[in-house]
Amino acid sequence: MSIISSPDRLADTSVPISDVIAGRWSPRSFDPDAVFEEEALVAALEAARWAPSASNTQPWRFIVGRRGSDTFQRIADALVPFNAAWAASAHALVVNIAETETDEGTPLPWAVYDLGQAAATFNLQAHKSGLHTHPVGGFDVDAIREAFALEQRFVPVTVTAVGVLGSPDALENEMLRSRETAPRQRKGLSEIVVIDD
Ligand SMILES: Cc1cc2nc3c(=O)[nH]c(=O)nc-3n(C[C@H](O)[C@H](O)[C@H](O)COP(=O)(O)O)c2cc1C
Repeated sequence: MSIISSPDRLADTSVPISDVIAGRWSPRSFDPDAVFEEEALVAALEAARWAPSASNTQPWRFIVGRRGSDTFQRIADALVPFNAAWAASAHALVVNIAETETDEGTPLPWAVYDLGQAAATFNLQAHKSGLHTHPVGGFDVDAIREAFALEQRFVPVTVTAVGVLGSPDALENEMLRSRETAPRQRKGLSEIVVIDD
């Protein structure tokens, strides 16, 4: 397994950055038949566990469903149809949940920020292990709440599809196939950074 899936997916950066960060991208084609290293999934979860958080509160929870399981199906059923169409081939679907207040009712105001850091760390560790990840916000939050009997203080924020990269040709939809190979774009640094000179 290589860290960088294909050179044309590499981020075009103004200065060199880590290969893992430059090579990470969010595909929609996952190979359902590829050998999947379970240890790589555990490593990604372990990496998420070690993300920083406000006062080290670690206000994140993850529900992991592996394809074929009831948990996977319940998560897949909550995805909007656009996402469900391609995410069904992923090896696992992970619900990323923010704990917005403690069980004693104390607010955890940075919970979503902290969860985002954990999810990003998850993505990068997965990529380093040769997997690909695709976060999605297109899902029915209430359906996930109901499917897993979540207390109100737990907020499902995203679902991450995890798997082994598949061929764009495996996607039935032409629009999705073309997105798989379209140039990756970002705003320029000058658009998003104010820096002293
Ligand atoms: C919070 C969040 C929600 C997203 N929701 C969706 C989604 O519902 N469906 C989808 O196909 N991609 C979704 N994406 C993926 C983004 O479109 C993708 O990360 C972005 O276009 C940048 O591409 P890259 O990850 O390949 O660099 C989401 C990403 C994030 C971080």
